[in-house]
Amino acid sequence: MDDKTLQLRRGFDSSDPDFGPGIPFWRHEYFSDVLAQEPLLEKIVPALPKELNQKIFAGQPEIEKLWSSYKDHGYGHLFYQLIRCLKPAQCVEIGVLQGFSLLTVAAALRDNGRGKISGFDLFEQYPYHHESFENVDRRIKNFNLQSIATIARRDAFAVHEQFVEVDYLHVDISNNGDTYRKIFEQWAPKVKKVMLLEGGSVKRDVVEWMIKYKKPSITKALDEFRLKYPDWNIVVFDPYPSLTLAVRKNSQK
Ligand SMILES: C[S@@+](CC[C@H](N)C(=O)[O-])C[C@H]1O[C@@H](n2cnc3c(N)ncnc32)[C@H](O)[C@@H]1O
Repeated sequence: MDDKTLQLRRGFDSSDPDFGPGIPFWRHEYFSDVLAQEPLLEKIVPALPKELNQKIFAGQPEIEKLWSSYKDHGYGHLFYQLIRCLKPAQCVEIGVLQGFSLLTVAAALRDNGRGKISGFDLFEQYPYHHESFENVDRRIKNFNLQSIATIARRDAFAVHEQFVEVDYLHVDISNNGDTYRKIFEQWAPKVKKVMLLEGGSVKRDVVEWMIKYKKPSITKALDEFRLKYPDWNIVVFDPYPSLTLAVRKNSQK
């Protein structure tokens, strides 16, 4: 773990000292509340492993060598099982970095035998922690997932223009409340099944950079959404870095 990761974790660890890295998100005390709020999760929970390092799919150990804040509490298992359960045709990911979540979803689509994922990032043009386009593109080919996963360099808020309809959207671009507002406005009419957005917990709203750069709260945006987007059921997984799951109501019938 690097210093930046430690800083981002600090607020989570100080308020939840017994829930450090390595403990699955589905063992958190609030998980039963989340489970009760979203029926889709009932289909996924039986497929979750006992331990984070349990091998579920081909390529998983190599994908888990990539850097990702999602690894600390096993969110990769959620991505994989969601895709296995939903069997989406078109997936979009905005914010790829080294490809941890993109490749996990691509592996699940491969195991489904159908579906594609299109990933978008600024790559070298992002001034902070980033990865090169070339490295991610090579990685996709090394995993032999190039017929399923493709990437392009594009700003997050222009991606919606090239899609009429998608089944699954994941957004992970150092999100804040305004990211959520823009993404929901652009995508709520186009996403047929599920949206995942990094962040959403109270602790995530007060990580160091959110305070330092006065970034708008995500929890406030979510309070607005519960009135503004009645077609969506929205739940939040609390463990670091926290994750918002929005499921289109009736999409599972
Ligand atoms: C936290 S990382 C994504 C992590 C990744 N999803 C994973 O599995 O660990 C955030 C990424 O968002 C990208 N990014 C930030 N702002 C962006 C923007 N406006 N448009 C597109 N990509 C952006 C960065 O280049 C970076 O690779």
